[in-house]
Formats: sequence, structure tokens, C-alpha cells
Amino acid sequence: MPGRVTTPDVQRLGVRIAGTGVCLPPRRVSNHDIAQRVDTSDDWITKRTGIQTRYFADDATTVRDLARDALLAALEDAKVEASDLDLVILATITPEMACPSTAARVAAEVGATPAGAFDLAAACSGFVYGLNLASSLIESGRNRCVAVIGAETLSRHVNHDDRRTCILFGDAAGCAILRADEDAGPPSATASGGRGVLHQAMHSRGELWSALYMPRANKHIPPELDPAVTTEPGWNGQLDALQMHGQEVFKFAVIQTCDMIQEALDATGLKPDDLKLIIPHQSNQRIMATARDRFGLPKDKLYINIDRFGNTSAASVPLCLHECRTQGKITDGDLVLFLAIGGGMTWSTSLWRV
Ligand code: UT7
Repeated sequence: MPGRVTTPDVQRLGVRIAGTGVCLPPRRVSNHDIAQRVDTSDDWITKRTGIQTRYFADDATTVRDLARDALLAALEDAKVEASDLDLVILATITPEMACPSTAARVAAEVGATPAGAFDLAAACSGFVYGLNLASSLIESGRNRCVAVIGAETLSRHVNHDDRRTCILFGDAAGCAILRADEDAGPPSATASGGRGVLHQAMHSRGELWSALYMPRANKHIPPELDPAVTTEPGWNGQLDALQMHGQEVFKFAVIQTCDMIQEALDATGLKPDDLKLIIPHQSNQRIMATARDRFGLPKDKLYINIDRFGNTSAASVPLCLHECRTQGKITDGDLVLFLAIGGGMTWSTSLWRV
């Protein structure tokens, strides 16, 4: 299938996730806080999404601040100098500007210049796309050390009077430092010695774009689409805010999440039991629980922390990864499946022996 890459049989280097770090803005927002402004309740949000709290950046904090601090924390954890980085990939749909990339400024602020740097726009799938790109560059020997960051300030881009979207999203950043590991060599589904990506997939279906979109400003909507989008079910009356047809995204996400897991298992010959953990994008607890039930997975096989952070788009997978590493839920040699679905529509998997 286009977009799917099962590891070719060539001489490759092992890749390790050498360190992780996160940054959360200090302001924690509860469901009760949101219910002060729109007609909703803690009970509705908890039951329909699993979310209890999320974090919002204050006016003085930008996505660059969150991304930089997550990167600094990850460098420290990995015991890697910023000057060792070959590349900084920043997955975000809320960059500070279209140009320069937020990644370039983050790289400069931590002292990583002249490392390559670019922003990657694949919405909630962005971090998993980034893991796949970075690991491929390292395993081919072209780069030795790459930072992959997921950072978002979606609280700036939702209409806080639209109860269908304002309940869902939060701000955060997470980062993983990927390094070449020549001693370990490439990974295998059956032997535990190698490290890196066993299977990766990156997909999109742009014809479904209007299920979830976020123009930068009214003038960025293609003129021929303006009347059309304002009749979409997801339309919330504020053209420069995130627009979402929640049910459409929900149905798509349930189907794709199950298909992605199956695709990764089929490509590698692994069984669900072989996986130590599935780390999914934190879209909605019900989406994740449906996929878990479909494969008969025990609760602790699929990591969920949406209750505390909400849906942080590209930041959600690295937030989970960091928690799982620091809490010992994944250790050296485990098989871990990362997956995400987001606007575009995009979706991606990355199956690792970590
Ligand atoms: O990260 C990828 C991007 N996004 C997603 O993955 C989101 C996927 N979608 C979802 O998570 C869900 O569709 C939502 C959480 C957004 C909405 O949940 P739902 O169960 O699909 O609700 P719904 O849109 O079907 O609405 C059901 C009812 C409606 O009322 P009526 O028409 O039945 O009277 C809504 O008006 O719930 C109402 N409603 C609310 N009520 C209280 C919608 N939002 C709220 C709210 N509080 N915040």
C-alpha cells in the first residue's frame, strides 16, 4: 500500500530513543472552569472524552518556549549536548510564524546551530511522522542524532465559546532524542538485540480535510470553499479557529486506529501479546477504548493519560512516551507501537524495539 514501509533488508544502524522531556504550561484548566463559560458539565466531558483537566499557555508563553524547554529536558535526560544534534524536527500545527520555522529558532536557542531544523505539519500525527523520518535518517547513516519535538498551543486556536471543540484541546510539548546505536544494530521482530523501527506507516486522505481544519485567518480560506465550509456540520462561526466535525473524525479515528494496529501486526508477524505497550495519540478515551476492546487488549497494554492533559495534538504521543519511560512502563528491548490520527486527514504508525 502507498505510504507503508516495511524495513528493507539492507545494512542499517540501530536507533535508540536516548532521552525524553516534556514541558507543560503552568495553568491547569478543569472541566468545571470550562463549564463557567460554555453550556457543558464535568460529567458530560468526562463521560464523552475521558478528559478532566488540560493545560493552557498564558499570553506570555509561546509554542517556542514550550518546545525549547521540552528539548532542553530531553537533551539532559539523553546526556547529549545540543551541539551533537544533526537535525531538529518540530511537529506542530500552531507554529509561531509561517517563516521562520519555530524549529529553527528553537534549535538556535538551545545552541544546536547549524543543525537542520524544520516544522512538520501533520496535525496530531506529526510526532509519529517525525519519529519515522528521524529514525530513517539515522538508520541509513545520514544523521547520527535527531531531536523530534511535538509542541502545540491549540488553546490559542479554538473558539472558547464553542463547546464542541473548546473542551477537547490542551497545550504542551514533548521531545525525544534519537541516536545511532552501532553496537545494537537494527531491530528484529524475533530477536531482542537490535534497536529501532521495525515497521512504519505514514498516510493521508486530503479529500477529507473539512472534517478538521484550522485556517490562520479568514483570508486563508480558498474563496471557492468559503460558502461550502460555513455549511459544514463542524462550522463554529469563527473562521480563524479550529473547525471540527467531531462525529466524522471520531468514526474515522476508530476505524483507522484498528486498521493501523492490524497493519503493523500483519507486516511484522507479531501478535498483540508481543507488544509491551501501544502508545496512541490521545484523541478521545472512547476512541482508544474501542480499539483496545477490538483487539481484546488488557487495560494496561494501551497507554492513556488524556484525563490529565486533554488532546494536545502533536504533543500527546511524546507526553505519553516520557511518562512511560520515566515510570518504567517500557524498558530496553520492549516492542512499542506508536500511532496517531489527525487533521488532513493523516495517520501514522511507528513500531519500535526501544
Ligand atoms: O485529535 C484528533 C482530533 N479530534 C478528535 O479526535 C475528536 C473526535 N471526536 C470526538 O471526540 C467527539 O465527537 C466529541 C467529544 C467532539 C463530541 O462527542 P460526541 O459524543 O460525538 O457528541 P456529538 O457531537 O454527537 O453531540 C451529542 C450531543 C449534541 O446534543 P444533541 O444535538 O444530541 O441535543 C451536542 O450538542 O452533545 C451535545 N454536546 C455537548 N453537550 C455538553 C456537544 N458538545 C457538548 C459539550 N457539553 N461540550
